[in-house]
Amino acid sequence: MNEMRPTNTNEIRPIRWTGWRLELLDQTRLPHEQVTVSITDYRVAADAITEMRVRGAPAIGVTAGYAMALAAAELQSRERDQFIGSLRQAGEYIAAARPTAVNLGWAVRRMLRVAEAEPDPGSILPALEAEAQRIQQEDEAINRRIGEQGRALMPADGQGVLTHCNTGALATSAFGTALGVIRAGWEAGGRFRVFNTETRPWLQGARLTSWEFQQLGIPATLIADSAAGMMMLNGDVSCVITGADRIAANGDTANKIGTYALAVLANENGIPFYIAAPTSTVDLSLADGAGIKIEERPAHEVTTYGSAPTAPDGTAAYNPAFDVTPNRYITGIVTEAAVCRPPYAESLRRAVDAA
Ligand code: MRU
Repeated sequence: MNEMRPTNTNEIRPIRWTGWRLELLDQTRLPHEQVTVSITDYRVAADAITEMRVRGAPAIGVTAGYAMALAAAELQSRERDQFIGSLRQAGEYIAAARPTAVNLGWAVRRMLRVAEAEPDPGSILPALEAEAQRIQQEDEAINRRIGEQGRALMPADGQGVLTHCNTGALATSAFGTALGVIRAGWEAGGRFRVFNTETRPWLQGARLTSWEFQQLGIPATLIADSAAGMMMLNGDVSCVITGADRIAANGDTANKIGTYALAVLANENGIPFYIAAPTSTVDLSLADGAGIKIEERPAHEVTTYGSAPTAPDGTAAYNPAFDVTPNRYITGIVTEAAVCRPPYAESLRRAVDAA
Protein backbone atom coordinates (compact mmCIF):
# COMPACT_ATOMS: atom_id res chain seq x y z
CA MET A 1 0.00 0.00 0.00
CA ASN A 2 1.68 3.26 -1.17
CA GLU A 3 0.61 6.72 -0.12
CA MET A 4 -0.02 9.53 -2.60
CA ARG A 5 -1.64 12.95 -2.52
CA PRO A 6 -5.02 13.02 -4.29
CA THR A 7 -5.71 15.41 -7.14
CA ASN A 8 -8.10 18.24 -6.32
CA THR A 9 -11.61 18.02 -7.78
CA ASN A 10 -14.87 19.77 -6.97
CA GLU A 11 -16.76 16.53 -6.40
CA ILE A 12 -15.38 14.37 -3.63
CA ARG A 13 -14.59 10.97 -5.13
CA PRO A 14 -13.18 8.67 -2.44
CA ILE A 15 -12.68 5.66 -4.71
CA ARG A 16 -10.74 5.73 -7.98
CA TRP A 17 -9.80 2.93 -10.34
CA THR A 18 -6.70 3.82 -12.30
CA GLY A 19 -6.13 0.70 -14.40
CA TRP A 20 -5.77 -2.29 -12.06
CA ARG A 21 -4.97 -0.01 -9.17
CA LEU A 22 -7.56 0.94 -6.55
CA GLU A 23 -7.04 4.33 -4.94
CA LEU A 24 -8.89 5.12 -1.73
CA LEU A 25 -9.00 8.46 0.06
CA ASP A 26 -7.94 7.28 3.52
CA GLN A 27 -10.81 8.20 5.87
CA THR A 28 -8.77 7.42 8.98
CA ARG A 29 -6.65 10.50 8.13
CA LEU A 30 -9.39 13.03 7.32
CA PRO A 31 -10.07 15.87 7.89
CA HIS A 32 -6.55 17.06 8.66
CA GLU A 33 -4.73 15.03 6.01
CA GLN A 34 -5.89 14.06 2.52
CA VAL A 35 -3.94 10.90 1.78
CA THR A 36 -4.70 8.34 -0.90
CA VAL A 37 -3.79 4.69 -0.43
CA SER A 38 -2.99 2.80 -3.60
CA ILE A 39 -3.95 -0.88 -3.61
CA THR A 40 -3.26 -3.75 -6.03
CA ASP A 41 -3.93 -6.72 -3.71
CA TYR A 42 -7.51 -7.80 -2.91
CA ARG A 43 -6.54 -8.73 0.66
CA VAL A 44 -5.26 -5.22 1.27
CA ALA A 45 -8.54 -3.85 -0.17
CA ALA A 46 -10.51 -6.07 2.25
CA ASP A 47 -8.28 -4.96 5.13
CA ALA A 48 -8.88 -1.30 4.16
CA ILE A 49 -12.62 -1.98 4.65
CA THR A 50 -12.01 -3.62 8.06
CA GLU A 51 -9.74 -0.74 9.15
CA MET A 52 -12.34 1.78 7.88
CA ARG A 53 -9.96 3.53 5.49
CA VAL A 54 -13.05 3.25 3.29
CA ARG A 55 -16.43 3.06 5.03
CA GLY A 56 -20.13 3.64 4.51
CA ALA A 57 -22.31 0.88 3.07
CA PRO A 58 -22.31 1.87 -0.64
CA ALA A 59 -18.57 2.72 -0.64
CA ILE A 60 -17.82 -0.66 0.90
CA GLY A 61 -19.82 -2.29 -1.92
CA VAL A 62 -17.94 -0.37 -4.62
CA THR A 63 -14.59 -1.26 -3.01
CA ALA A 64 -15.60 -4.93 -2.82
CA GLY A 65 -16.34 -4.90 -6.57
CA TYR A 66 -12.84 -3.67 -7.36
CA ALA A 67 -11.34 -6.06 -4.81
CA MET A 68 -12.94 -8.94 -6.73
CA ALA A 69 -11.43 -7.63 -9.98
CA LEU A 70 -8.00 -7.48 -8.29
CA ALA A 71 -8.52 -11.03 -7.00
CA ALA A 72 -9.30 -12.23 -10.53
CA ALA A 73 -6.13 -10.59 -11.86
CA GLU A 74 -4.07 -12.44 -9.25
CA LEU A 75 -5.84 -15.81 -9.43
CA GLN A 76 -6.51 -16.11 -13.16
CA SER A 77 -6.04 -19.56 -14.60
CA ARG A 78 -6.71 -21.21 -17.96
CA GLU A 79 -8.69 -23.87 -16.10
CA ARG A 80 -12.14 -22.32 -15.65
CA ASP A 81 -13.46 -24.31 -12.66
CA GLN A 82 -10.26 -23.77 -10.73
CA PHE A 83 -10.39 -20.04 -11.52
CA ILE A 84 -14.01 -19.73 -10.34
CA GLY A 85 -13.24 -21.80 -7.21
CA SER A 86 -10.37 -19.50 -6.20
CA LEU A 87 -12.49 -16.43 -6.91
CA ARG A 88 -15.20 -17.78 -4.60
CA GLN A 89 -12.63 -18.17 -1.82
CA ALA A 90 -11.35 -14.63 -2.38
CA GLY A 91 -14.98 -13.47 -2.30
CA GLU A 92 -15.44 -15.09 1.12
CA TYR A 93 -12.38 -13.26 2.41
CA ILE A 94 -13.61 -9.92 1.08
CA ALA A 95 -17.21 -10.41 2.30
CA ALA A 96 -15.93 -11.12 5.83
CA ALA A 97 -14.29 -7.68 6.11
CA ARG A 98 -17.30 -6.18 7.92
CA PRO A 99 -20.58 -7.92 8.78
CA THR A 100 -23.42 -5.38 8.89
CA ALA A 101 -23.57 -3.53 5.56
CA VAL A 102 -25.48 -5.68 3.07
CA ASN A 103 -23.74 -3.93 0.14
CA LEU A 104 -20.50 -5.83 0.78
CA GLY A 105 -21.86 -9.35 0.22
CA TRP A 106 -24.20 -7.98 -2.46
CA ALA A 107 -21.27 -6.65 -4.53
CA VAL A 108 -19.22 -9.84 -4.08
CA ARG A 109 -22.16 -12.00 -5.22
CA ARG A 110 -22.83 -9.71 -8.19
CA MET A 111 -19.18 -10.00 -9.29
CA LEU A 112 -19.21 -13.80 -8.86
CA ARG A 113 -22.35 -14.09 -10.98
CA VAL A 114 -20.59 -12.21 -13.80
CA ALA A 115 -17.53 -14.49 -13.56
CA GLU A 116 -19.70 -17.61 -13.51
CA ALA A 117 -21.59 -16.49 -16.63
CA GLU A 118 -18.37 -16.23 -18.70
CA PRO A 119 -17.71 -19.48 -20.57
CA ASP A 120 -14.17 -18.44 -21.55
CA PRO A 121 -11.71 -17.97 -18.63
CA GLY A 122 -9.86 -15.40 -20.76
CA SER A 123 -12.86 -13.06 -20.76
CA ILE A 124 -13.51 -13.16 -16.98
CA LEU A 125 -10.97 -10.46 -16.17
CA PRO A 126 -12.27 -7.74 -18.52
CA ALA A 127 -15.86 -8.65 -17.61
CA LEU A 128 -15.12 -8.19 -13.89
CA GLU A 129 -13.32 -4.90 -14.41
CA ALA A 130 -16.30 -3.58 -16.41
CA GLU A 131 -18.78 -4.80 -13.77
CA ALA A 132 -16.89 -3.14 -10.90
CA GLN A 133 -16.87 0.13 -12.83
CA ARG A 134 -20.60 -0.29 -13.51
CA ILE A 135 -21.31 -0.73 -9.78
CA GLN A 136 -19.46 2.52 -9.10
CA GLN A 137 -21.17 4.49 -11.87
CA GLU A 138 -24.60 3.14 -10.95
CA ASP A 139 -24.04 4.15 -7.32
CA GLU A 140 -23.47 7.79 -8.19
CA ALA A 141 -26.50 7.88 -10.50
CA ILE A 142 -28.66 6.18 -7.83
CA ASN A 143 -27.55 8.65 -5.16
CA ARG A 144 -28.51 11.59 -7.35
CA ARG A 145 -31.95 10.00 -7.82
CA ILE A 146 -32.27 9.52 -4.03
CA GLY A 147 -31.54 13.25 -3.70
CA GLU A 148 -34.28 14.06 -6.22
CA GLN A 149 -36.77 11.79 -4.46
CA GLY A 150 -36.02 13.18 -1.02
CA ARG A 151 -35.32 16.87 -1.39
CA ALA A 152 -38.97 17.90 -0.91
CA LEU A 153 -38.84 16.33 2.56
CA MET A 154 -36.32 18.90 3.75
CA PRO A 155 -37.69 21.49 6.17
CA ALA A 156 -38.73 25.03 5.34
CA ASP A 157 -36.17 27.85 5.28
CA GLY A 158 -34.83 28.57 8.74
CA GLN A 159 -35.96 25.25 10.22
CA GLY A 160 -33.44 22.53 11.08
CA VAL A 161 -32.56 19.09 9.74
CA LEU A 162 -30.36 16.75 11.78
CA THR A 163 -28.19 13.99 10.32
CA HIS A 164 -25.99 11.33 11.91
CA CYS A 165 -22.72 9.64 10.99
CA ASN A 166 -21.41 10.27 7.46
CA THR A 167 -23.60 9.47 4.47
CA GLY A 168 -22.04 11.78 1.89
CA ALA A 169 -19.71 11.27 -1.04
CA LEU A 170 -17.16 9.71 1.31
CA ALA A 171 -19.58 6.92 2.21
CA THR A 172 -20.52 6.23 -1.41
CA SER A 173 -18.93 6.64 -4.85
CA ALA A 174 -20.14 10.28 -4.98
CA PHE A 175 -22.97 12.59 -3.84
CA GLY A 176 -24.17 10.51 -0.89
CA THR A 177 -27.52 9.28 0.40
CA ALA A 178 -28.94 11.16 3.44
CA LEU A 179 -26.32 13.88 3.01
CA GLY A 180 -27.18 13.82 -0.70
CA VAL A 181 -30.83 14.57 0.13
CA ILE A 182 -29.71 17.55 2.22
CA ARG A 183 -27.41 18.66 -0.62
CA ALA A 184 -30.20 18.29 -3.19
CA GLY A 185 -32.47 20.39 -0.97
CA TRP A 186 -29.84 23.12 -0.76
CA GLU A 187 -29.11 22.98 -4.47
CA ALA A 188 -32.85 23.41 -5.09
CA GLY A 189 -32.68 26.65 -3.12
CA GLY A 190 -33.81 25.48 0.33
CA ARG A 191 -32.20 27.49 3.10
CA PHE A 192 -32.95 25.27 6.07
CA ARG A 193 -30.43 24.86 8.88
CA VAL A 194 -28.25 21.75 9.03
CA PHE A 195 -27.05 20.03 12.20
CA ASN A 196 -24.79 16.99 12.29
CA THR A 197 -23.86 14.80 15.24
CA GLU A 198 -20.26 14.02 16.18
CA THR A 199 -21.06 10.28 16.00
CA ARG A 200 -19.03 8.85 18.83
CA PRO A 201 -16.84 6.89 19.05
CA TRP A 202 -15.33 6.99 15.55
CA LEU A 203 -16.45 10.60 14.91
CA GLN A 204 -17.64 10.12 11.34
CA GLY A 205 -19.86 13.17 11.85
CA ALA A 206 -17.25 15.51 13.30
CA ARG A 207 -14.37 14.42 11.07
CA LEU A 208 -16.06 13.53 7.79
CA THR A 209 -19.53 15.10 7.56
CA SER A 210 -18.38 18.51 8.81
CA TRP A 211 -15.55 18.37 6.24
CA GLU A 212 -17.94 17.42 3.43
CA PHE A 213 -20.36 20.24 4.27
CA GLN A 214 -17.43 22.65 4.21
CA GLN A 215 -16.34 21.37 0.79
CA LEU A 216 -19.92 21.80 -0.47
CA GLY A 217 -20.30 25.29 1.01
CA ILE A 218 -23.37 24.24 3.03
CA PRO A 219 -23.35 25.86 6.50
CA ALA A 220 -23.67 23.11 9.11
CA THR A 221 -23.49 23.09 12.89
CA LEU A 222 -21.79 20.22 14.70
CA ILE A 223 -23.45 18.99 17.91
CA ALA A 224 -22.48 16.42 20.53
CA ASP A 225 -24.58 13.28 20.11
CA SER A 226 -26.10 13.89 23.52
CA ALA A 227 -27.38 17.37 22.51
CA ALA A 228 -29.88 15.97 19.98
CA GLY A 229 -32.75 15.40 22.44
CA MET A 230 -32.64 18.89 23.88
CA MET A 231 -32.51 20.42 20.41
CA MET A 232 -35.56 18.47 19.31
CA LEU A 233 -37.42 19.49 22.47
CA ASN A 234 -36.50 23.16 21.90
CA GLY A 235 -37.79 23.11 18.30
CA ASP A 236 -34.37 23.52 16.65
CA VAL A 237 -34.77 20.29 14.69
CA SER A 238 -37.84 19.68 12.50
CA CYS A 239 -36.62 16.66 10.55
CA VAL A 240 -34.03 13.87 11.00
CA ILE A 241 -32.48 11.95 8.10
CA THR A 242 -29.86 9.20 8.26
CA GLY A 243 -28.48 6.47 6.01
CA ALA A 244 -28.71 2.70 6.41
CA ASP A 245 -26.41 -0.30 6.33
CA ARG A 246 -29.14 -2.91 5.98
CA ILE A 247 -32.92 -2.63 5.76
CA ALA A 248 -34.99 -5.73 6.48
CA ALA A 249 -38.10 -6.54 4.42
CA ASN A 250 -40.37 -4.96 7.08
CA GLY A 251 -38.38 -1.69 7.17
CA ASP A 252 -36.41 -2.33 10.39
CA THR A 253 -33.13 -0.53 9.67
CA ALA A 254 -29.56 -1.07 10.84
CA ASN A 255 -27.47 2.09 10.86
CA LYS A 256 -24.71 3.73 12.87
CA ILE A 257 -24.96 3.29 16.63
CA GLY A 258 -27.12 6.08 18.03
CA THR A 259 -29.61 6.07 15.15
CA TYR A 260 -32.20 4.22 17.25
CA ALA A 261 -31.94 6.82 20.02
CA LEU A 262 -32.44 9.64 17.49
CA ALA A 263 -35.49 7.89 16.00
CA VAL A 264 -37.11 7.39 19.42
CA LEU A 265 -36.41 11.03 20.34
CA ALA A 266 -37.85 12.22 17.03
CA ASN A 267 -40.96 10.14 17.62
CA GLU A 268 -41.34 11.49 21.18
CA ASN A 269 -41.10 15.05 19.82
CA GLY A 270 -43.42 14.53 16.82
CA ILE A 271 -40.58 15.06 14.30
CA PRO A 272 -40.40 13.05 11.05
CA PHE A 273 -37.53 10.57 10.93
CA TYR A 274 -36.33 9.47 7.46
CA ILE A 275 -33.86 6.90 6.17
CA ALA A 276 -32.19 7.43 2.77
CA ALA A 277 -30.61 4.41 1.06
CA PRO A 278 -30.32 2.69 -2.31
CA THR A 279 -32.51 -0.36 -2.91
CA SER A 280 -29.28 -2.43 -2.84
CA THR A 281 -29.31 -1.83 0.94
CA VAL A 282 -32.70 -3.55 1.26
CA ASP A 283 -32.28 -7.19 2.30
CA LEU A 284 -35.54 -8.92 1.42
CA SER A 285 -34.13 -12.21 2.71
CA LEU A 286 -34.56 -10.91 6.28
CA ALA A 287 -38.13 -10.66 7.52
CA ASP A 288 -37.18 -8.18 10.26
CA GLY A 289 -34.26 -6.54 11.99
CA ALA A 290 -33.69 -9.37 14.48
CA GLY A 291 -31.66 -11.21 11.84
CA ILE A 292 -29.19 -8.36 11.23
CA LYS A 293 -25.68 -9.06 12.50
CA ILE A 294 -24.31 -6.12 14.44
CA GLU A 295 -20.58 -5.50 14.16
CA GLU A 296 -18.70 -5.12 17.43
CA ARG A 297 -15.56 -3.04 17.01
CA PRO A 298 -12.43 -2.87 19.20
CA ALA A 299 -12.74 -1.36 22.68
CA HIS A 300 -9.86 1.06 22.07
CA GLU A 301 -12.11 3.07 19.70
CA VAL A 302 -14.12 4.01 22.82
CA THR A 303 -11.26 4.46 25.28
CA THR A 304 -8.99 6.58 23.09
CA TYR A 305 -9.10 9.46 20.64
CA GLY A 306 -6.53 8.66 17.97
CA SER A 307 -3.65 7.46 20.10
CA ALA A 308 -4.61 9.62 23.12
CA PRO A 309 -6.33 7.75 25.97
CA THR A 310 -9.65 9.21 27.16
CA ALA A 311 -10.27 6.65 29.93
CA PRO A 312 -8.09 5.10 32.65
CA ASP A 313 -5.86 2.20 31.60
CA GLY A 314 -7.72 -1.09 31.91
CA THR A 315 -11.20 0.42 31.38
CA ALA A 316 -13.60 -2.17 29.96
CA ALA A 317 -15.51 -0.84 26.93
CA TYR A 318 -18.27 -2.20 24.71
CA ASN A 319 -18.36 -0.92 21.14
CA PRO A 320 -21.33 -2.01 18.99
CA ALA A 321 -20.95 -0.16 15.66
CA PHE A 322 -24.63 -0.24 14.64
CA ASP A 323 -28.12 -0.49 16.07
CA VAL A 324 -31.47 -1.45 14.58
CA THR A 325 -34.32 1.06 14.46
CA PRO A 326 -37.74 -0.65 14.48
CA ASN A 327 -39.88 0.31 11.48
CA ARG A 328 -42.53 1.99 13.68
CA TYR A 329 -40.18 4.93 14.28
CA ILE A 330 -39.44 5.50 10.58
CA THR A 331 -41.62 8.04 8.76
CA GLY A 332 -40.31 7.18 5.30
CA ILE A 333 -37.45 5.41 3.51
CA VAL A 334 -36.08 7.39 0.56
CA THR A 335 -34.79 5.12 -2.22
CA GLU A 336 -33.88 5.88 -5.82
CA ALA A 337 -37.23 4.46 -6.93
CA ALA A 338 -39.63 6.12 -4.45
CA VAL A 339 -40.13 7.45 -0.95
CA CYS A 340 -41.40 4.28 0.72
CA ARG A 341 -44.03 4.65 3.43
CA PRO A 342 -45.49 2.12 5.88
CA PRO A 343 -46.39 -0.67 5.52
CA TYR A 344 -42.81 -1.22 4.40
CA ALA A 345 -43.22 -4.90 3.52
CA GLU A 346 -45.22 -3.69 0.51
CA SER A 347 -43.57 -0.37 -0.34
CA LEU A 348 -40.00 -1.70 -0.13
CA ARG A 349 -40.83 -4.71 -2.29
CA ARG A 350 -42.35 -2.35 -4.91
CA ALA A 351 -39.27 -0.09 -4.80
CA VAL A 352 -36.88 -3.04 -5.20
CA ASP A 353 -38.91 -4.35 -8.15
CA ALA A 354 -39.04 -0.89 -9.76
CA ALA A 355 -35.30 -0.17 -9.37
O1 MRU B 1 -19.18 2.35 10.37
P1 MRU B 1 -19.48 3.17 9.14
O2 MRU B 1 -18.84 4.50 9.15
O3 MRU B 1 -19.19 2.38 7.88
O4 MRU B 1 -21.05 3.39 9.22
C1 MRU B 1 -21.67 4.13 8.20
C2 MRU B 1 -23.11 4.32 8.43
O5 MRU B 1 -23.70 3.86 9.38
C3 MRU B 1 -23.86 5.04 7.35
O6 MRU B 1 -24.94 5.74 7.88
C4 MRU B 1 -24.38 4.02 6.34
O7 MRU B 1 -23.37 3.15 5.92
C5 MRU B 1 -24.96 4.69 5.14
S1 MRU B 1 -23.71 5.45 4.15
C6 MRU B 1 -24.42 6.17 2.80
